[in-house]
Amino acid sequence: MTTHKGLKLVDRDEEGVDTAFRSDVLDGLSQPQKAIPARWLYDDAGSQLFEDITQLPEYYPTRAETEILRDRADEFAEMIGPGRAVVEFGSGSSVKTPLLLSAIKPAAYVPLDISGDFLRAAANDLSAKFPGLPVHPVEADFMRKVELPSEIDELPNLGFFPGSTIGNMVARTAVDLLRNMRETLGTGAQLLIGMDLIKDEDVLVAAYDDAAGVTAEFNYNLMRRINRELEGDIPIDALTHEARWNDDFARIEMHLVAGRNIEFSVHGRRFEMKVGETIHTENSHKFNRRTSNMLLLAAGWEPQARWLDSKGRFSLLLAEARPERSAP
Ligand code: AVI
Repeated sequence: MTTHKGLKLVDRDEEGVDTAFRSDVLDGLSQPQKAIPARWLYDDAGSQLFEDITQLPEYYPTRAETEILRDRADEFAEMIGPGRAVVEFGSGSSVKTPLLLSAIKPAAYVPLDISGDFLRAAANDLSAKFPGLPVHPVEADFMRKVELPSEIDELPNLGFFPGSTIGNMVARTAVDLLRNMRETLGTGAQLLIGMDLIKDEDVLVAAYDDAAGVTAEFNYNLMRRINRELEGDIPIDALTHEARWNDDFARIEMHLVAGRNIEFSVHGRRFEMKVGETIHTENSHKFNRRTSNMLLLAAGWEPQARWLDSKGRFSLLLAEARPERSAP
């Protein structure tokens, strides 16, 4: 899981306010459709709530992807081969990463994360589980091209980006990231990436609006964070969590819907919402075989293989960064 609260890479003003958070919130609340980038959902409380979400009965993606990694290990180990440096985008999951590493016998493991704390904890954990495997954590914003440690210069790379986190980006950002991953990993690299699949709307909406209300809390937590960190007085009790399927863009959207007309201020700026108006807080795009292939190809990755879980809910794709060649 990637968080965005790393201390080193955050700019704070003299009052300790994260200036990027403040400008994203103020800009986002000033638009006709109010919207806040989803990365701000992940403060400490939000990261914990997301961990709780992954355990919910309605939230199938984590279990489905883990099942693929567990049950199809022989197949992807054969297509990847031993001796690669596994470069994980995000500091790694305590369940999925060990499944991959034990399946493919890599020569090194390089977790990349913007949060040094998460990164060091994950790297220590992995070193303890795989004694003898060189682990080289890199603190970096992986949305950009990253300089990999010189120790893995001679090794072929395998990028690992599980969780369908790619689905939280709009197409343009997703293509930018996948292209940067190709730059980071180099020609000849492979990429193993999770992408959640389009399915019945009811199943999708339930996964993002669970009966226990944990996803709702995850969404409200962003408002609590704004009130706490940006001198806000958003009346959170007037907002209701909603998960909506947007069929044109094949995505679940999280919104906070105003149940009455409200006015509030954030960092001294006044905002208002009419009843029914929403703040859009997250997109989670879903894919099929064609759209996932198209996304990979648009960024220079040739799809090589695709595995689904036994219920056909989630896909894990393997792609290769082939040298560019002319095509019709
Ligand atoms: C992190 N990401 C892949 C999750 C998803 O499914 O889009 C975030 C999430 N939001 C609500 N529930 C889970």
